[in-house]
Amino acid sequence: MRNRRAALAAIAGAASLALTLTACGQDSEGGSNEGKGSSKGGTIGIAMPTKSSERWIADGKNVVKDLESKGYKTKLVYGEDDPDQQVSQIENLITQGVKAIIVAAIDNKSLNNVLQQAADAKIPVIAYDRLILGTKNVDYYASFDNTKVGELQAGYIVDKLGLKSGKGPFNIELFAGSNDDNNTKYFFNGAMSVLKPYIDSKKLVVQSGQTGLTQVTTLRWDGTTAQKRMDDILTKSYQSKKVDAVLSPYDGISIGILSALKSDDYGSKSKPLPVVTGQDAELASVKSIIAGEQTQTVYKDTRELAKVASTMVDDVLNGKKPQTNDTKTYDNGAKVVPAYLLQPVSVDKSNYKQVLVDGGYYTESDLK
Ligand code: GAL
Repeated sequence: MRNRRAALAAIAGAASLALTLTACGQDSEGGSNEGKGSSKGGTIGIAMPTKSSERWIADGKNVVKDLESKGYKTKLVYGEDDPDQQVSQIENLITQGVKAIIVAAIDNKSLNNVLQQAADAKIPVIAYDRLILGTKNVDYYASFDNTKVGELQAGYIVDKLGLKSGKGPFNIELFAGSNDDNNTKYFFNGAMSVLKPYIDSKKLVVQSGQTGLTQVTTLRWDGTTAQKRMDDILTKSYQSKKVDAVLSPYDGISIGILSALKSDDYGSKSKPLPVVTGQDAELASVKSIIAGEQTQTVYKDTRELAKVASTMVDDVLNGKKPQTNDTKTYDNGAKVVPAYLLQPVSVDKSNYKQVLVDGGYYTESDLK
């Protein structure tokens, strides 16, 4: 249990950073260049899932900034990963008379009733990063190419292990995101499309035997839940073996997995850390990559996503058809939701400076 305390301290550090950032972003109301257009000066509701992760704090801030620059007021709320709370927050937004709502859902199936209320009040709804399922009352979807995210994570593992040049067999363990997040299956299926041929040919071996999506999901993307599962797998399946790679779908999960690994002496000379992927380029994970612990993350520029979503809102409210680039993939069970998908980028120690620092996402000093 060597480094458990340090690892937990790192998680706590990330959480407190998240809270600090929150202070600048939450529940903001402001910005009004009234009178530019019919809905200008009106308030847009933004429902985000949680403040426990940096990325959603950045998303919230960026959406607020973009909408304000277009002349809207904003009401930003966070649902603390509680689906019921998110439902009542959206109900409140509707009661307050918002002109449109941007939602990153906590539970993709819990919003049908409240979105019917939005539709009855003629309030357009944009699904932000996570598709909302089972309702026609979602107008547009702004996200990234979610299948590509999984392909980038798995492709990175394949390259790093040298599987294409015939190396192996290697041991791998698989983690997926929350089962109530529509993105989870896209990430996992994207990754498995790359990994499966190697699993079939036994060049990759999942010693735990847990390869089905339902066996590997992580409720609410929780790092501690992932840490426990990894602890368990190491105890049960790796007493006399070493794990060489871990498919992790999200940085918060990667940090949990790394804590379990370090507690089991991985990271020491005789037991190098496995390849560990991630997603979101969260600060704690980029620092971990620089320190040689987490290996990779998938960067999704939340500034761009915020721009897409707020432009969609502005277009819809001004009777313009928003730009979309995918009108086939995202069938939510009630309709195919027209989407604009941005491109994710794989980041590791070799390109984080170029992508994240030169791209203005972080400064050098953020990463110290
Ligand atoms: C997903 C999102 C990921 C990650 C995850 C956990 O919906 O696409 O980028 O942020 O939630 O928050």
